[in-house]
Amino acid sequence: MAFPEGFLWGGAVSAGQYEGGWNEGGRGPCRMDYTTGGTRTSPRYVTYELADGTPVKAGREAALPAGARWASLGDCYYPNQVAVDGYHRWREDVDLFAEMGFKVFRMSIGWSRLYPTGLEAEPNRAGIEFYREMFEYMREKGIEPLVTLMHFDTPLGLEAACGGWENRALIDHFVRFCTTCFMEYKGLVHYWLTINEINNLLSLIDFFGGGDDAAYQRAYQQLHHQFVASAKAVQVGHAIDQDNQIGCMIASAATYPHTCDPADILAAEHKRQENAYYCGDVQVFGAYPTYAKRLWDAHNAHIAMEPGDLDDLAAGTVDFYTFSYYNSNVVTTHEVTDTVGGNFQVGARNEYLTYSDWGWAMDPMGLQWQLEVLYDRYQVPLMVVENGLGAFDEVVEEDGEKRIHDPYRIDYLRQHVRAMETAIANGVDLRGYTPWGCVDLVSMGTGEMRKRYGFVYVDMDDEGKGTLDRYRKDSFWWYQRCIASNGAELD
Ligand code: BG6
Repeated sequence: MAFPEGFLWGGAVSAGQYEGGWNEGGRGPCRMDYTTGGTRTSPRYVTYELADGTPVKAGREAALPAGARWASLGDCYYPNQVAVDGYHRWREDVDLFAEMGFKVFRMSIGWSRLYPTGLEAEPNRAGIEFYREMFEYMREKGIEPLVTLMHFDTPLGLEAACGGWENRALIDHFVRFCTTCFMEYKGLVHYWLTINEINNLLSLIDFFGGGDDAAYQRAYQQLHHQFVASAKAVQVGHAIDQDNQIGCMIASAATYPHTCDPADILAAEHKRQENAYYCGDVQVFGAYPTYAKRLWDAHNAHIAMEPGDLDDLAAGTVDFYTFSYYNSNVVTTHEVTDTVGGNFQVGARNEYLTYSDWGWAMDPMGLQWQLEVLYDRYQVPLMVVENGLGAFDEVVEEDGEKRIHDPYRIDYLRQHVRAMETAIANGVDLRGYTPWGCVDLVSMGTGEMRKRYGFVYVDMDDEGKGTLDRYRKDSFWWYQRCIASNGAELD
């Protein structure tokens, strides 16, 4: 049997896309709360009001102008504010996960639920107790929590006071938050991830159409602060509980050259260094790689570092490497007109693959390739902590019951499980698999509900209409059999 005993089968969500309850229990706001819904072809916006009350919709990364304040506008819908109401319904969801046989559930702790502005000296007790109850209940059900400490949700208060991650003050604020988590949940949580898809700070530049040197300067500086913050958190986490296993989390699209033109081969390798290895190397090896200088020089970037930063990176290496894998991506130096994107990567169309309804390349063999390449490089245990097919689902009434027949999702997942099985047989130390959005949630990219990943359907649409009731999809029963047979029964 390929999958080792104790393999961690489960699922994943993030606080901002799952919880809702955005202004309950003393929680403070984060950027996602003021981000509108979009679609595959229309972008999401952030909204605010100028000092004179003028409403503004701006690009989702926009900074708040002086005197303005974040605001929900009457004619916009903000899907993350309610999300799928995990804040009130998590117990029902954990029951469903237990019914599927989950061994692990990957979730994140909302930073602003514990530190409403991020600046407080003491945490919000209601937030602390909310997650404690959840972890205790998960353990009762035999489910191990795998906790992401930051999943795209820096508190807005920190942005207002410090301007965001380009300010190194964020390091201490983040470490204070992490220390609280490690102390409060000692013994309840053993698996932690510091920062979700940390490498997106760089890939987003390309994805949104390219940026000037200033954009790269900013991203590299922000990343340096996040690397140091993550490394310090790893050190604190180990000091507080030596049983803590702390990992990194990298967005990992397999990157292929479009042709065998040596220029394409080199371009694909360089893209891979920039998009994935740069972050993985720092977090696993504890030092900047040789090619970092080439990457910085290409954009005239100069990173401000303080004495001790490099020592922290070396002392705070992660125990395991985790990544999201949805799709592969094709890189070329040649002119192409047919470009496609997926999970913040953009490139040429791959004629050997098929694409999801949202245009993401479906490539299970790419997952095998990733696993083998990453394990060879890093030689630490791996986990696939996001994977899945965002698809339209239809609810049908049969025998008075609501049913969701999702063979397309089962097929996608089956092929990816087989790819993992092959990689394990080839020697990869893969410890766990947590498909994304195990219960339907708000899409990060588009803000849609109809882009569904779950085994569990949530009755909620793109305008906030729905009962939020949960229904088991066909894939629910498929995954239950997969877990019960430790990956042997996939039909
Ligand atoms: C990753 C994120 O980018 O991919 C998740 O870690 C996100 O937060 C997931 O939801 C899928 O992307 P999307 O755009 O389909 O939600």
